[in-house]
Amino acid sequence: MANVSDLLKLSAHLQSTSDSSQLDCELLLCHVLEVDRAWLRTWPDNQVSPAQQALFESLLDQRIEGTPIAYLIGSRGFWSMDLNVSSDTLIPRPETELLVEIALNLNLPSQSCGLDLGTGTGAIALALASERADMKWVAVDSQLGAVELAKNNCHQQKLSNVSIYQSCWFDTVKAPNNKFDLIVSNPPYIATDDPHLSQGDVRFEPSTALVSGIDGLDDIKIIVSQSPVYLNSNGWLLIEHGYNQGQAVRDLMLSSGFSEVSTKQDYNELDRVTLGRWK
Ligand SMILES: C[S@@+](CC[C@H](N)C(=O)[O-])C[C@H]1O[C@@H](n2cnc3c(N)ncnc32)[C@H](O)[C@@H]1O
Repeated sequence: MANVSDLLKLSAHLQSTSDSSQLDCELLLCHVLEVDRAWLRTWPDNQVSPAQQALFESLLDQRIEGTPIAYLIGSRGFWSMDLNVSSDTLIPRPETELLVEIALNLNLPSQSCGLDLGTGTGAIALALASERADMKWVAVDSQLGAVELAKNNCHQQKLSNVSIYQSCWFDTVKAPNNKFDLIVSNPPYIATDDPHLSQGDVRFEPSTALVSGIDGLDDIKIIVSQSPVYLNSNGWLLIEHGYNQGQAVRDLMLSSGFSEVSTKQDYNELDRVTLGRWK
């Protein structure tokens, strides 16, 4: 029978697919054995059953074919949470935590209401709801699978201040007090012919979560133009976008009448989130 150390050596087969082959291999083995990475290091000689080895090797084969690690193990860490993921929506990205930080730094008053458009796994809404239990949150997605996933994540995080339902952007949005003080969104923003769509993890993610017209701005245009109807006076709109879309999103917000418009950069110093205030 193989032991932990034998199976971890199979990471060599992943080197041409993944630039984190050792980590990927450890995460797959942790998932199969239901242990954490510290356990693998502590017990390298522990024997692995034939059934566990077969499952591990089948997951490794799928990873070698390019399937994202989060889809194979069914979860991804975001903010302080471990979220379930599925092929119905995007795997949450670390860059999106910037949007959460900016939203929290707005220091909105207690009892304010926030809306997350295109919630996917619920990543943004649930992170904000966990930090601001004194606020009410609404989260919507057009994909039923994503709505069910976000509800399930909300339940696991034991959050009672979030309502999640299916809606095409604002179509069926109902604000608890008619309007919101904050609207956040990480919408699809990749151009239809972007070559990145055929590389890496995004090959396995649904186009409904990624693609938005020839310049990637179709959905952002809808959100920016319709948000004023749903924002309270002095309410904020925060949108995550592509590294090359900062100027375009600022222009859209300014021409829709937003003030205090600015773009924040992520940890790679790339334009990532644009915000504006509705007076
Ligand atoms: C880039 S993903 C972001 C998911 C999640 N907010 C995150 O940051 O990980 C965009 C999400 O928008 C949803 N979406 C796409 N078109 C939509 C629409 N017309 N109305 C509502 N949601 C939409 C997709 O299903 C997807 O879950």
